[in-house]
Amino acid sequence: MNGRVVLVTGAARGLGAGIAAGFEKEGFVVHRADIAGGGLAMDVTDRASVRKCMDKVGAIDVLVNNAGLLASGPFDQTTGEAWDRLLAVNVTGIFNCVQAAVPAMRGRRGASIINIASVSHEKGGGAIGNVWYGATKAAVVAITRGLGRELGAQGIRVNAIAPAVVATDMVSAQLDAALRERVLARIPLGRLAEAEDIARAALFLASEAASFITGETIAVDGGFLRT
Ligand SMILES: NC(=O)c1ccc[n+]([C@@H]2O[C@H](COP(=O)([O-])OP(=O)(O)OC[C@H]3O[C@@H](n4cnc5c(N)ncnc54)[C@H](O)[C@@H]3O)[C@@H](O)[C@H]2O)c1
Repeated sequence: MNGRVVLVTGAARGLGAGIAAGFEKEGFVVHRADIAGGGLAMDVTDRASVRKCMDKVGAIDVLVNNAGLLASGPFDQTTGEAWDRLLAVNVTGIFNCVQAAVPAMRGRRGASIINIASVSHEKGGGAIGNVWYGATKAAVVAITRGLGRELGAQGIRVNAIAPAVVATDMVSAQLDAALRERVLARIPLGRLAEAEDIARAALFLASEAASFITGETIAVDGGFLRT
């Protein structure tokens, strides 16, 4: 047991659940936070709820900002309400969690923050995510760069992971057979990601092996961005 403490947001299902399980296997004390419960009840868009959870957890070594929503389809099919919520969860959620968690991370050896971005950040939309989703993930990448610079002196590293398509609940509703084939044709490694692929990258970024890496976004996409 390594006993280091990790808090994963959006951990009730999908990638967050996979990342939490990966950290648990490595002996971390894992706190799962999600609006849907299944651990600590936390709405990342609600500062009071975030603060209450962080107070319960106490000291944190690793924060994984994973909670997120998806938006798909042409630009004019996302409603104003959906955009407000997308921005609130995908971007303000990170603002809230980082501001609440950093005081609990200071002075912890090897402290790090890992943000879950998406390949959508690079092109303003990816295989399934649309322009609005891509914009929120570009913000995640900018936050990662800037915080990496700002928190370095405090011994807190900040990095992000950009997955392409992981067959979680978030995407399976959109992923019919034809789209699946089109996506697979663009993945040189020939398969969709598993949550474990993303969990392994998160474990690496949280580890001593990544102790000189900060401000970086690593694509874990089977080569999707290179095609
Ligand atoms: N699945 C993919 O292909 C893929 C690709 C690239 C990036 N991502 C990113 O990975 C992350 C996880 O995606 P997923 O596929 O596991 O999605 P998912 O929808 O399966 O799970 C998301 C989890 O976040 C929780 N959540 C939603 N709003 C919340 C809030 N306000 N506060 C706290 N928790 C909240 C949900 O309850 C759910 O448990 C997201 O940031 C997503 O953008 C996913």
